[in-house]
Amino acid sequence: MTTTATAPNALESRLAQQIEQFRRDGVYKRFNRLASPQAARVQMEGRGEVIILSSNNYLGLSNHPTVVAAGKRGLDRYGAGTASVRFICGTFSIHRDLEVACARLVGTEAAMSFVSCWNANEALPATVLTEHDLILSDQLNHASIIDALRLAKSITKCETGVYKHGDLAELDAKLAAATDRQVKMVVSDGVFSMEGSIVNLPALLEVCRRHGAILWIDDSHATGVLGTTGRGTAEHFGLVGQVDIITSTLGKALGGAAGGFIAGSATLCDFIAQRARPQLFTNALPATVAASALSAIELLEAEPERVAKLRDNTSYFRHRLQELGFKPLAGETPIIPVILGETAAAIRMSELLLDEGVFATGFGFPVVPQGQARVRCQISAAHSREDLDQALAAFTQVGKKLGLV
Ligand SMILES: Cc1ncc(COP(=O)(O)O)c(C=O)c1O
Repeated sequence: MTTTATAPNALESRLAQQIEQFRRDGVYKRFNRLASPQAARVQMEGRGEVIILSSNNYLGLSNHPTVVAAGKRGLDRYGAGTASVRFICGTFSIHRDLEVACARLVGTEAAMSFVSCWNANEALPATVLTEHDLILSDQLNHASIIDALRLAKSITKCETGVYKHGDLAELDAKLAAATDRQVKMVVSDGVFSMEGSIVNLPALLEVCRRHGAILWIDDSHATGVLGTTGRGTAEHFGLVGQVDIITSTLGKALGGAAGGFIAGSATLCDFIAQRARPQLFTNALPATVAASALSAIELLEAEPERVAKLRDNTSYFRHRLQELGFKPLAGETPIIPVILGETAAAIRMSELLLDEGVFATGFGFPVVPQGQARVRCQISAAHSREDLDQALAAFTQVGKKLGLV
């Protein structure tokens, strides 16, 4: 059979035009190809060695020999994958072990794993809420939460709403007005991924308790990062065991492969296992990934000094950046954004940094609001002082070139 060239269809033409526009606007995203594992320094195709300031490998565990070896053992023991859904074809013991460890880490009774935190977030409200319920979300919550609410609204007909970022007075008023709702739920990131700021958990909990609302925290950027032993936002505020539901990722500090979980009461997790569509209609996390994540949690628990190193590195980089004349958003997490304004400016700075051997990604609209484009630096416990100093020297060079310092 021969194929003949046909004129591009309407979809192809539209997409091609839009891609062309992205290029003209200077917002086209390029995928930088890496030829080595995530670490403080990586081999980038066409660039050689570069320092990574854009990874969520907060504890430096992605390439830790123990984590990698556990993954290989998982592969040897359980094979490549589950070949079906857990309730249909069986559950590997590594998934149960991982879920017990996730619950223990974040301080809940139980946990259920998913192939990503995106899936976990989408599963939660769409599974447990009904048309009698309300869920309110912080304006700056992660895209997966925004989409989770859209999905929940369309599937369950629950009421959804957004409150201004961190505006607990507005949240309070919205909860007070919702007198006819059976269940009220509030969701917030623990650490806001584009700002690096930490939610005011004690105050948020107080508002939720006063209105009998369930609190759901997405701790994806806080697990392994906040608290003396890396147990997350609740530990940071001395509130472990107080948050009703925590979702988090295994794809950042906890080994960085992939996966996520919902942690909460045993009843909640049982209901999720019975009814969540991303449990019932898709394969479980590959066993090798579950094994690596479990090993990362065990390492974190055995060696909490990694969290202290992350904190030291973060504070050093943040203060040196300020001394050099940059004005990063204030905060104490390893997410350190330098605001530039226009998307094209952030992408330009990111490219100039890469020319100097430093990989820090520029983010623009629609990932962040219009006019607030930024270069987001992320610090890891894997960075040495030399790595950080070399990165700071590159910031100085580029900052001078762009007239920022
Ligand atoms: C706050 C937050 N929630 C959820 C996710 C999604 O995590 P995953 O990569 O496991 O799907 C991310 C990832 O960027 C995130 O930052």
